[in-house]
Amino acid sequence: MHDLVLEGRVLRDAFPIEAYIFIDGGRISKISRQAPVSGEYGELHRLGRSLLLPGIIDTHAHFRDPGMTSKEDFASGSVSAAFGGVTTVIDMPNTRPPTIDRDSLQAKDKTASAVSVIDYGLNLVITNGSDLLAVDTLLKGIGNVPAPAGLKAFLGETTGSLVLEPISSLARWTSVLENTGAVVAIHAEDGSLFEPVKDPDKVKDILKKHHGSRPPSSEASAIVKAVNALGRNAGSAHFLHVSSEMGLEAAKTSSATVEVTPHHLLLDVKLSGLDPEHQALGKVNPPLRTPADRAALWRGIADGSVDTIGSDHAPHLLEEKDRGYLSPSGIPGIETMAPLLLSEVSKRRLDIDRFMELCCSSPADRYSIAGRGRLEDGYLADIMVVDLRKGRKIRGDDLHSKCGWTPYEGKVGIFPEKVYSRGELLIEGENLCGKPGRGRNIRM
Ligand code: NCD
Ligand code: ZN
Ligand code: ZN
Repeated sequence: MHDLVLEGRVLRDAFPIEAYIFIDGGRISKISRQAPVSGEYGELHRLGRSLLLPGIIDTHAHFRDPGMTSKEDFASGSVSAAFGGVTTVIDMPNTRPPTIDRDSLQAKDKTASAVSVIDYGLNLVITNGSDLLAVDTLLKGIGNVPAPAGLKAFLGETTGSLVLEPISSLARWTSVLENTGAVVAIHAEDGSLFEPVKDPDKVKDILKKHHGSRPPSSEASAIVKAVNALGRNAGSAHFLHVSSEMGLEAAKTSSATVEVTPHHLLLDVKLSGLDPEHQALGKVNPPLRTPADRAALWRGIADGSVDTIGSDHAPHLLEEKDRGYLSPSGIPGIETMAPLLLSEVSKRRLDIDRFMELCCSSPADRYSIAGRGRLEDGYLADIMVVDLRKGRKIRGDDLHSKCGWTPYEGKVGIFPEKVYSRGELLIEGENLCGKPGRGRNIRM
């Protein structure tokens, strides 16, 4: 007797075949072309010709909880994620207070476990003042606090002001990384190469100025310095939101891995799709780049030099983004990431197998998240149901983040029709079926 059977199409060698996914105790027990016989299951959901894909694992989101919960909180952020097909998220530590030690990690876990509708991990920030031994202990999951998903280092100034400097001081962390096998997620921008902007309140061409003031050379420099500092442990580094051709080239020559974001793939200083009056909506760190940089990132996706895609969901309120060049940096995007990428899949710009690697299996492998990111026997039944023929226009008003806006207004996204998390129906069309607090820490 199986709990649930899903009838739909699954991909085998990028080819859709009709199949049945049998689910027991929240896990996939088998995937078969053979229909179940009646009486063999509790429930059967017929999903027609829709595709059954693994749930998205977004390893880069800023849920703003605690401290900036008017922008987002763990409840709203996780709901927004779920509507975008995300079944596992890793939250970033630049909250107030930051996730920096045992107490702040435990407190954030308490909030998340009480309100999150999806499973989650929490990154711990490392800064100049960090206690290495304490971090090492937390990573080993000693005591009753779930271990952090990974470490996070901000090498350049961005929201939260938690810079680790000089970049060479990353070298202090090599033995912790070696002992624990932890990933260090790195915001790579070298502040010593930033060009300060004069009279920021008077800047008109916000995107170009921001790109010039935090140039690709600052990204590449930070990557090179970080790789040098980590030495033979460079493979522990996961360079986040790599935005430029120079940055990608710098990372390629190392054993480190690379994340890119939907906004650096889809928006640039020229074709930002933004109303010229509202360019600040596209202000982000690292900045939107040139069309040539964007093309280089797409080449990196095709040739394998990009390892994962993360949303860098960084919500700020519209009134905060109304301050021209003085607006804070960050773009919301957890709910639109998979829909926009699936749109690219439907346009044959992105291979569907590559999409699943970048958004599901590679994030799971990179962060050692066991039993997720693939539709295979024994894996958790985290599944999104999509029909690649059914796109709809993205509207900020339809999204579930507290911030209420998107830089992709009017672009077409292919949203999941249904989302399952551990075999439970989480999203059905417009409806949230999962209860707040059902989400679990992936390190539990
Ligand atoms: C992020 C934020 O607002 O938290 N902002 C951003 O521009 N990407 C921080 C970050 O990832 O750098
Ligand atoms: Zn960052
Ligand atoms: Zn970020």
